[in-house]
Amino acid sequence: MKQRKILVTGGAGFIGSNFVHTILESSEDVSITVVDKLTYAGNLKNLEKWKNDPRFNFIKLDITDKTEVFAKLQNVAITEIAHFAAESHVDRSILGPEEFIKTNVMGSFYMLEFARTLHAKKELKVFLHVSTDEVFGSLSADGAFTETTPYSPNSPYSASKAGSDHLVRAYFHTYGLPVITTNCSNNYGPFHFPEKLIPLMILNCLQGKPLPVYGTGENIRDWLFVKDHCLAIDLVMREGKFGETYNIGTRNEKNNLEIVHRICELMDKKNPNGAPHKKLVQFVKDRPGHDFRYAIDPAKIETELGWKPKYQFDEAIEQTVDWFLENKPWWEEILSGDYNKYYEFQYKELNSK
Ligand code: NAD
Ligand code: TYD
Repeated sequence: MKQRKILVTGGAGFIGSNFVHTILESSEDVSITVVDKLTYAGNLKNLEKWKNDPRFNFIKLDITDKTEVFAKLQNVAITEIAHFAAESHVDRSILGPEEFIKTNVMGSFYMLEFARTLHAKKELKVFLHVSTDEVFGSLSADGAFTETTPYSPNSPYSASKAGSDHLVRAYFHTYGLPVITTNCSNNYGPFHFPEKLIPLMILNCLQGKPLPVYGTGENIRDWLFVKDHCLAIDLVMREGKFGETYNIGTRNEKNNLEIVHRICELMDKKNPNGAPHKKLVQFVKDRPGHDFRYAIDPAKIETELGWKPKYQFDEAIEQTVDWFLENKPWWEEILSGDYNKYYEFQYKELNSK
């Protein structure tokens, strides 16, 4: 019998699939069941490496369907839940917030209700809820989010994640569920869906398309390499305290224009035909309610759990660019499907002057 039996919701998405890789690459004594609805952001190609591994199992499941959640999971052996499944893109939440409320609030609620049945049978060791620093709102030039920063979400996405965070907290206080929430900053790395800033800029560079920078490009994000994030989540699942929250970040603030320029420089080196890629930068209309700055203070996870990141930004951003260069079939398939229609629509709706 495997010691750890982890249920990973949203495991076919960007961070969830990286988490599956992190766990299966580092431990034999584990089994993983991924449940995922396979929305536009879910992709079984992200997990292909494990499809014949006896430690891995996949179930297609929509967490907003309570009946389906209980029916499909009733015979699955589970000791831990890592809850990643969510609608995750701020721009999509501006264009259509309803799915965000359904999946992020109601879907999380059904997962908590299901977890309660495991807890009643004394089978559940931990329910780890993956959340975001965006629940804390926007910072001005100074300061950083700590675990005690008041919630102040500004987008439908962050409001829906805040709702789920509050439910998770309530299930600890009300039902004694062994929950922990992590709030992290912006991730980047392999398998990142190309609607988000970093993969979008890499792929637009490769295609000679405009690089749309919202507003002045001065907005700041605190970039976290996804592999560091997944190691931190695993550590929190093993050693974190129930009912607590942990911020995850690597003190790596950059404004958007710095990020775009760095990608252009790397692309000039690796794809000299398109150089100089900076000529593709296009300043477009700002995002409504665009949060100015996010910054994480990771002191709690560092001091209480001894966490330290393994990767430096310079090497990790280059690894990320290389991953996209080496995995052309992965992103070509995405760009040839419905995603392109959405991108053109979004580009027109949100970015036109
Ligand atoms: P993603 O959009 O790449 O993946 C989300 C996954 O959830 C997809 O595989 C999708 O199919 C699945 N999913 C969506 N709705 C579902 C439903 N109703 N039922 C079952 N599965 C469903 O997102 P991501 O970037 O990997 O984010 C994972 C988690 O981390 C999310 O909870 C997100 O809020 C959080 N987070 C992400 C970031 C980031 O920078 N990407 C930062 C902070 C927090
Ligand atoms: P994004 O990757 O969507 O993450 P989030 O909104 O959750 O932080 O955006 C990161 C930053 O990049 C954000 O300030 C918005 C900006 N951005 C652009 O300037 N252009 C783009 O095309 C996108 C997708 C984002």
